[in-house]
Amino acid sequence: MTAAYETLNRMLAGSIPDAVELAGLLKAQGKLTERIYASADRTRAEKHGSAIHLRGIIEFSNVCKNNCWYCGIRCGNSKVKRYRMSADEIAASARNALEWGCGTVVLQSGDDPLLNAGELAALLRRIKLETGMAITLSVGVRTRPELEALKEAGCDRYLLRFETTSNALFTAMHPDESFEDRIRCLNDLRALGYQVGSGFMIGLPGVTLEMIANDILFATKLRLDMIGCGPFLPHPDTPFADKPLIEDRSLYYKAIAMLRILNPYAHIPATTAFDALEPNGRNLVLCRGANVFMPNITPGKYRRLYQLYPNKPCVDEEGSACAVCVRGRIAGLDREIGSGPGHSILKAEGDTI
Ligand code: 5AD
Ligand code: FES
Repeated sequence: MTAAYETLNRMLAGSIPDAVELAGLLKAQGKLTERIYASADRTRAEKHGSAIHLRGIIEFSNVCKNNCWYCGIRCGNSKVKRYRMSADEIAASARNALEWGCGTVVLQSGDDPLLNAGELAALLRRIKLETGMAITLSVGVRTRPELEALKEAGCDRYLLRFETTSNALFTAMHPDESFEDRIRCLNDLRALGYQVGSGFMIGLPGVTLEMIANDILFATKLRLDMIGCGPFLPHPDTPFADKPLIEDRSLYYKAIAMLRILNPYAHIPATTAFDALEPNGRNLVLCRGANVFMPNITPGKYRRLYQLYPNKPCVDEEGSACAVCVRGRIAGLDREIGSGPGHSILKAEGDTI
């Protein structure tokens, strides 16, 4: 048996490989790749069943004070027309999400300097009262007192990707932020009782297989409730415009499959960027470890203005179209929509943090 097969078998038996071993497995081709996908799919089925949880995402503001090198809504991109949805519009979108079968609403924005915790807290209280749904926030790095106020207002979960484990790469790509502060924020979230989601972009410019392996291992070490990762896609109006995708597309999927095998209980979404990579990308990830789908419920008129990367799907749709489409996709995979909020199962299964 080759070393890579052995590594996979040991992972399936619960052991954590080192970065060199994992990088060896990321190189897998042919039959071994199929085996990695099948193993991840089996682990997903064992721990999460066939239900796919729907988290409706509202991209409620594209205003951002940061200038991240990869991101289409970076403040330096003057081509973007900026918008902020009103509280009434956001609440109406959340009510739609509930009607369309979502158990969770995800409120995401750029790092909008005018978005204060007090206003956000009021919005969270309103959405809780009106819908009772689980609420996830994804509004960038915040101070501990802010996070405390938001938790108090009913926020259940928070998404903040660490993007890369390489401090040097993080620093180069984020002129306005530090790696340490992101990790501080993730630790605060955990301490405050949030369900914590994080992850990284797969295939950032200049990364090696061993760096991707390190990202997978770091995400695993964080013992996350949710792991969100997707391919890095070069946006034409950013400094990374000319950076290539990884030639071996299977690497993107193998990374997700390995995250699933190493984190059996974590919720893993089929992130939208996979559909930008190839038309049925999200369906493929759902068969290679993922158990969550995040339909876009942002009103149609704003969608074109929230393009972190090119070829984003569904920008010409209204939320109702995504709601119908997602049902078709899930039925086509012979799976069903998860009921209820789809909270973390890490603790419930005794797999404590
Ligand atoms: N390609 C892929 N993902 C991106 N994101 C931002 N820009 C890009 C891009 N060009 C991801 C980041 C961020 C999340 C909201 O979107 O990982 O955390
Ligand atoms: Fe938006 Fe399919 S999820 S149209």
